[in-house]
Amino acid sequence: MSELDLLVKGGEAVIGQDLVKSDIGIKDGVVTVVGAGLEASAKETVDASGLLVLPGGVDSHVHIDQPSGSAAEMCDTFETASASAAAGGTTSVICFAWQSQGESLAAIAADYAERAKGSRVDYAFHLTITDPTDEVVEKELPALVAAGNRSIKIFMTYKGVGLDDRQILRVLDAARRNKALVCVHAENNALIEYLTDKLLAAGLTAPKYFPLSKPSVAEREAVQRVIAFSEALDVPIEIFHVSGAGPAAEIERAQERGLKIWAETCPHYLTIVADDLDKPGFEGAKLIFGPPARTAADQEALWDYIRRGIISVISSDHSPSRYDDPKGKKVAGEDAPFSVIPNGVPGLAARMPVLFSEGVSKGRIDIAKFVDLVSTAPAKLFGLYPRKGTIAIGSDADLVLWDPQKKVTLTNAMMHHGGDYTPWEGVEVIGYPVATYLRGRAIFREGEILVEGGGEHLARPEYPMIEPNGRFPTAFNPVDRTLVA
Ligand code: URP
Ligand code: ZN
Ligand code: ZN
Repeated sequence: MSELDLLVKGGEAVIGQDLVKSDIGIKDGVVTVVGAGLEASAKETVDASGLLVLPGGVDSHVHIDQPSGSAAEMCDTFETASASAAAGGTTSVICFAWQSQGESLAAIAADYAERAKGSRVDYAFHLTITDPTDEVVEKELPALVAAGNRSIKIFMTYKGVGLDDRQILRVLDAARRNKALVCVHAENNALIEYLTDKLLAAGLTAPKYFPLSKPSVAEREAVQRVIAFSEALDVPIEIFHVSGAGPAAEIERAQERGLKIWAETCPHYLTIVADDLDKPGFEGAKLIFGPPARTAADQEALWDYIRRGIISVISSDHSPSRYDDPKGKKVAGEDAPFSVIPNGVPGLAARMPVLFSEGVSKGRIDIAKFVDLVSTAPAKLFGLYPRKGTIAIGSDADLVLWDPQKKVTLTNAMMHHGGDYTPWEGVEVIGYPVATYLRGRAIFREGEILVEGGGEHLARPEYPMIEPNGRFPTAFNPVDRTLVA
């Protein structure tokens, strides 16, 4: 065996479903040897005794350096967001090349790819379509998907962003033809607008009323509707940020019918409830994200859906606005109604520690399930596996050395992002990353970011997991315009 670049010795590694005492040898950025008691020579040997060795996190829902459509600005560049990723054990992110109204998707994807070059972790792109013109859907989209951007994001709500039903069908149709996965922000726009108008007219404008404007029923209806569309066109989809029991039950019913419907939730839905927005002054704005936080009963239900595999991915939905900033949550002033406060919370660095602490340390899930939720399942669903999401010979040597006993009180400074707050300020977690390696190179150790740049774009070729079922509800295949046997 030629000399290794790095040998990680003495840790307990998650290899597939198993937690095993295992050393890991790395050469040229990939794992080349795995086994207990390796005696290979290496340029560098790291002692991982007492630590878990996990595959680097894959965060498949991250907003970075995106246009907001208003005077508000997202507060992370690729430099800061990727530092935050590394600090939390995440080595790959999938973020959004975001088309605004009237824009060319191809042009914004090219521009976004340039900006991403400063990333310290690897990255891939979802294509956000808000204006599905002929040019975008029939010309630009096929080329962009073929170039490896194999997922599309659509919204069912937000003025100027959400698609109507015909537009959704158009994008689903194109996704099936081009072999891309569609990710959906599912909330009923008309109901939200109606409730918002009524709340504002009643003078109920404080941040704590935001959850009343976006109730579970609005999410449940949209989830049910887009699942029906997915079924009619036989197109696999992922439902983003499932917030509670109502929409999750719709997803389970669809999966029971054999439909290819996947679902993610996020740490904020597992740890924040609607009542937490009831804070003095404007503070509740820090916890405005959509769909909103729900109830403790929804959180218990989400854990159950997670354990049973109905919800298979935990992403951060990192979407950071600074709080005390006229370009952030206070863009419309300190007394602004909830309806004009930018949505979203930062969560890249906190995702894995919060989930480990709430999940593994509190006995709700085991370590293998944790790894699956934050790394393996998203890597598989988005066509990055087995390069990412696993510790295996030939896989990228993206590793996290994780201390399962370490008690840490979270602070904003630990997040290494561009934001001025974290929703988990002062929260004590048990279990924390000690070091993060991207393709065999240490990018974070003991609280310090060690690198500038170094992340690579991950082009995603076709992959079988998102192939359609080949079944339609009628004898007509509307996408290919053929009668089926
Ligand atoms: O509130 C959120 N989630 N903001 C980010 C955009 C989105 O809806 O995913
Ligand atoms: Zn969303
Ligand atoms: Zn999002």
